[in-house]
Amino acid sequence: MEELRIGILGFGTVGRGVVTMLQEHGDEIIKRSGVRLRLVRIATRTPSRDRGVDLGDVELTNDVYRVVNGDDIDVVVELIGGYDPAEALVRDALNSGKHVVTANKALIAERGVGLLDLAANKGLELSFEAAVAGAVPIVKAMKESLAADPVERIYGILNGTCNYILTEMREKGLSFESVLADAQEKGFAEADPTFDVEGIDAAHKLAILAAIAFGTPPNFSGIHIEGINHISDVDIAWAMEMGYRIKLLGIAKRLEGGVELRVQPTLVPESSMVASVEGVFNSVFVRSAYAGTTMYHGRGAGEKPTASAVVADLLEIARNQSAGAKCRVAGLSVLTKHLKPLPVLDMAELSGEYYLRLAVLDRPGVLADVTTVLARYDISIDAIRQKGRSQKDAVPLVIVTHKTTEQRIQSGLKALEALESVREKPRFIRIETGFA
Ligand SMILES: NC(=O)c1ccc[n+]([C@@H]2O[C@H](COP(=O)([O-])OP(=O)(O)OC[C@H]3O[C@@H](n4cnc5c(N)ncnc54)[C@H](OP(=O)(O)O)[C@@H]3O)[C@@H](O)[C@H]2O)c1
Repeated sequence: MEELRIGILGFGTVGRGVVTMLQEHGDEIIKRSGVRLRLVRIATRTPSRDRGVDLGDVELTNDVYRVVNGDDIDVVVELIGGYDPAEALVRDALNSGKHVVTANKALIAERGVGLLDLAANKGLELSFEAAVAGAVPIVKAMKESLAADPVERIYGILNGTCNYILTEMREKGLSFESVLADAQEKGFAEADPTFDVEGIDAAHKLAILAAIAFGTPPNFSGIHIEGINHISDVDIAWAMEMGYRIKLLGIAKRLEGGVELRVQPTLVPESSMVASVEGVFNSVFVRSAYAGTTMYHGRGAGEKPTASAVVADLLEIARNQSAGAKCRVAGLSVLTKHLKPLPVLDMAELSGEYYLRLAVLDRPGVLADVTTVLARYDISIDAIRQKGRSQKDAVPLVIVTHKTTEQRIQSGLKALEALESVREKPRFIRIETGFA
């Protein structure tokens, strides 16, 4: 029987899942391609560590080049993560004529174009479904099912750790710090959560999705990134009171003059579908010119969900091999020679609605001072709430604005901060409502 001979780099969470899936479902997979996916070798830093998997005659080594250069390997699965040595190993694997499957979003988002170009020039596949939202088949959906349809915008809940933290904060009324500590204990957050909570992981995924959507090279450095580490339980409670939930959203829009790219905590209407995406789940909402809005939802991480996407990429390569097809679909959908950078619109030019929270002295005339400042910057108010009474402490004043520009909001916030009756730096969170 025809075979696709597989070598894996890295034997951690995802590596273990891939090995288990190939062992448990290998026979079923053959029925879908006529090709046997045969695992030949795994290279990992510490082969002696017990992973709880019986490898049979699969070789385990600490020599990554036995995978990358081995004559008995057709596909290299890169599951180490990061840039170094992953980038060099992927390059070497392609140069030695092997297809590559990776789950490495950082690599594709920041170094992807050169590697995809190399793969295309050599007539090889470089596949990365697992790199964006784990098991959610969004890469394939955008590259194939929506391939003909101009994408106008993408909204994504792209980081399960952040979504879990925000969900727990809302449901249990807890602080960011205490939920993060609990998530780390349960294994939902890394010991060093920086990449997740600061929005970097979500931005890597958004860079890849925006590239596929708009026919540009991934532009990670052009993304405006804000994490959830400054979101307080007070804002979450106020958002609920005003009819919203707070989500870490990746937002990519194709607008006149360029693209809007941001990852940020966002107030979304409680009644929207995006608000109902809770816990560790990921969801991507794509609006395209002909299809309208389509939604993709599922588990964005974890051993089995991520393995499902990696093995599907392997099966696709097996199918192509069996059909004698080469590079049937370009890595980012648009052929690399046609990828064209688009200007990223400046945040100051963007417009939307805003949630503002001020800590103000509780005395007559303060509301008038605040609304006068907002009027000066042409910011009109949709809703305003104040709670609590205090002779000496500041009390919260929460405002939801109508549509205005980021530039006006930033100037207005500066002027508000300068008021004697405003006791703390005002907080603001952007609102998104266009999910239909
Ligand atoms: N975990 C998920 O749910 C998930 C979801 C989507 C995408 N991903 C992506 O999948 C990739 C792998 O993630 P993971 O969670 O499986 O990571 P992990 O559990 O940390 O595993 C990484 C593996 O790489 C090995 N490794 C590290 N440096 C190496 C080197 N220089 N040479 C050889 N092996 C080396 C480690 O070796 P030892 O164990 O032998 O020390 C380990 O087995 C990353 O790109 C990640 O972003 C993960």
